[in-house]
Amino acid sequence: MPETLLDVEHLSHVFRLSKHAHIRAVDDVSFQLHRGEILGLVGESGSGKSTVARCLMNIYQPTAGVIRYQGVNILDRREFARNRKMLETRRQIIFQDSASSLNQRMKVADIIAEPMHIHHIKPPRGSLREEAAYQLKYVGMDASYLDQYPSELSGGQRQRVAIARALSMEPELLVADEPIASLDVSIQAQIVNLFKHCNQEHGFSILFIAHDLAMVEFLCHRVGVMYRGRMVELAPTAELFGDPRHAYTKALLSAIPYPDPVIQKNRPRVDFEELEFDREGAFTEVTPGHFVLQEDRR
Ligand SMILES: Nc1ncnc2c1ncn2[C@@H]1O[C@H](COP(=O)(O)OP(=O)(O)OP(=O)(O)O)[C@@H](O)[C@H]1O
Ligand SMILES: [Mg+2]
Repeated sequence: MPETLLDVEHLSHVFRLSKHAHIRAVDDVSFQLHRGEILGLVGESGSGKSTVARCLMNIYQPTAGVIRYQGVNILDRREFARNRKMLETRRQIIFQDSASSLNQRMKVADIIAEPMHIHHIKPPRGSLREEAAYQLKYVGMDASYLDQYPSELSGGQRQRVAIARALSMEPELLVADEPIASLDVSIQAQIVNLFKHCNQEHGFSILFIAHDLAMVEFLCHRVGVMYRGRMVELAPTAELFGDPRHAYTKALLSAIPYPDPVIQKNRPRVDFEELEFDREGAFTEVTPGHFVLQEDRR
């Protein structure tokens, strides 16, 4: 049995907009992330992916549900406080716009070393600067960038610095919320290969949120599909792409452009808005490891 690193049970998050209006951004979502696994999370814009990611990282306090990281209930204040250092160092998140939130007045070396400094972590490779150089090299940039400021770098380089900063904590879990969406295609491939390397060589577990289904298929071991706040399907990647069961998953996959224009033209199109969708259904294991939100007409 693979070790469960992250255990999410019945997670819900409601945004209250006013006295009378609210958005059910995440609705009764359960899944597990195993150690050493890359789990993809896909679904249309507004389906709740980022809200899940933020709940997992204690950025939002969910409305309901339980989240355990290595058995620690991270939503319980006391348990969180007791495990604070572990939770703040071993879990790291990268956003689509992480690059833009880098401190413009700090040099790359200091940006990368800052979390080690804050958490009083002894740099494994000697000085903080040597450590920064190592992490920078790891993301494919040489030491000549150490003394540059973010404004002197390209968008792709800045995002790589943000990733180097996250990796400096040697996390066990990397939550990557559309980390490559704003980058050039060639840089996207580099970053995705970097994630693959981190996973294969160093056993990092990754929650990878993306719109690019080809990247998800290439990188992830399993994939969860979200639709309007619910997880509608979760399966090993090959099975999800080869044998999708939920109507929304089928619709989502049919929207992937096909390289052959003739085949592409003749493929049936599914309109997301017309989907029959029973949000009260039960998340059921239809074959081992393959979960589907099933119609539950009571
Ligand atoms: N801070 C917030 N306040 C109010 N509503 C929010 C907030 N953040 C998200 N929402 C709403 O919650 C729902 C889920 O949003 P979320 O950002 O989690 O979706 P997403 O799947 O990450 O979408 P995208 O693919 O566009 O990033 C949406 O309806 C969104 O408008
Ligand atoms: Mg999002």
